[in-house]
Amino acid sequence: MEKEHVTLTQPDGTTLELPILEGSVGPKTFDVTSVYKKTGMFTFDPGFMATASCRSAITFIDGEKGILRYRGYPIEQLAEQSSFLEVAYLLLYSELPSAEQLTEFEYIIGHHTMINESLQMFYRGFRYDAHPMATMVGVVGSLSAFYHDSLDIHDARHREISAHRLIAKMPTIAACSYKRHKGEPFIYPRNDLNYTANFMRMMFATPCEEFEPDPVAAKALDLLFILHADHEQNASTSTVRIAGSSGANPFACISAGIASLWGPAHGGANEAVLNMLDEIGDVSNVDKYIARAKDKSDPFRLMGFGHRVYKNNDPRATIIRKVCYDVLENMPTADSPLFELALKLEEIALKDEYFISHKLYPNVDFYSGIIYRALNIPMNMFTVMFAIARTAGWVAHWMEMIGDPDHRIARPRQLYLGAAERAYVPLDKRG
Ligand code: SDX
Repeated sequence: MEKEHVTLTQPDGTTLELPILEGSVGPKTFDVTSVYKKTGMFTFDPGFMATASCRSAITFIDGEKGILRYRGYPIEQLAEQSSFLEVAYLLLYSELPSAEQLTEFEYIIGHHTMINESLQMFYRGFRYDAHPMATMVGVVGSLSAFYHDSLDIHDARHREISAHRLIAKMPTIAACSYKRHKGEPFIYPRNDLNYTANFMRMMFATPCEEFEPDPVAAKALDLLFILHADHEQNASTSTVRIAGSSGANPFACISAGIASLWGPAHGGANEAVLNMLDEIGDVSNVDKYIARAKDKSDPFRLMGFGHRVYKNNDPRATIIRKVCYDVLENMPTADSPLFELALKLEEIALKDEYFISHKLYPNVDFYSGIIYRALNIPMNMFTVMFAIARTAGWVAHWMEMIGDPDHRIARPRQLYLGAAERAYVPLDKRG
């Protein structure tokens, strides 16, 4: 059957047939790789609003229907029945593990959780009040100075070891970033604890007393890690892919991903939501802030609302909102007035014509901070939580890209608006 194509007609009437590429699910694409060679023109799509940057089999999103699937499994089912490490295995290896494979994977990850002792010196170089995301960017990027035995990115086994090390060490590095900020001693990981409980103990235990993670809290955090594990070609994942496309080592690529995630338009939004709710303070102020969010002359945006892809509900926000109820019911420290305020803000915003016409719904970041706060995680660690979870997705995309024999360095072009050619003017001749 003849391949489907779209036809491009140029001003002089000549036409160009662009082949249509079809995936397994979701929108088709038409291949523009030949456009510059055949027309002398570039395509123009700042922000990649309508551009498929790669082929991938990891995560599928349907923004109109509010669908999110990891390797075909709906996020709702994974949230209900899986664990973060099982999801990390699924993202890395494409299939759900057998009981034996999961046990082995949990053992491997558990036995990579320690970090080189000399890395502890790095933390001392940061001001005590450095934002933990700044520490994460620095320390994760420095890991390549320690693991010379697994930096050959063309060796599949090296790629796998680096992926395991990154997934395993992110909680340890994150907890050390928190302890540095608090001025408390670092707590070593323990191999008898599962991934999330181990992290919570490294965060909240001290040499003076043990810390028993509350099972409700550990389960809520594990669920949040599942929901944040991957999300197609978002800004930070695209950053990891672009960094990796030059052949940079995986630790440098993940450090770049952490830096991109930190932005308030992206993963930094969960911290920004809590700052916003704290600033709004009371339901009586909600209308004022919604008016500000609608005012084009005001840079204020309703943090935790809107999404490049979801023009309906973000399925993760729906799940997290439910978890908020459970956490608030079962954890005395939970801040229910804050949750009430968030629910009221959502209710009012979703009735407002501006939010309806702009298809602005709560996203994954709108409620997550309420749960983190209930788990006594400080606000400046909220995006660090996101980074721990998203490392599983980042390394899966990095492995998928490097493992693709057709991958090449990412190097976009531009629409140039600068000066045309002009001659240099010697200093003494300038006006
Ligand atoms: C994440 O991509 C991913 O998958 C990301 C993520 C993941 O898992 O990796 O899902 C995680 O980053 C979630 C998003 C977290 N960010 C926030 O909550 C910050 C607040 N939201 C926005 O800044 C914004 O909605 C974005 C960045 C999320 C999306 O921006 P887009 O797609 O570039 O849309 P836009 O900025 O062009 O906005 C479209 C219109 C504009 O109005 P007009 O100029 O067309 O009239 O909607 C308005 C915007 O002004 N708008 C908002 C708004 N978000 C968009 N107005 C008020 N409040 C908002 N939150």
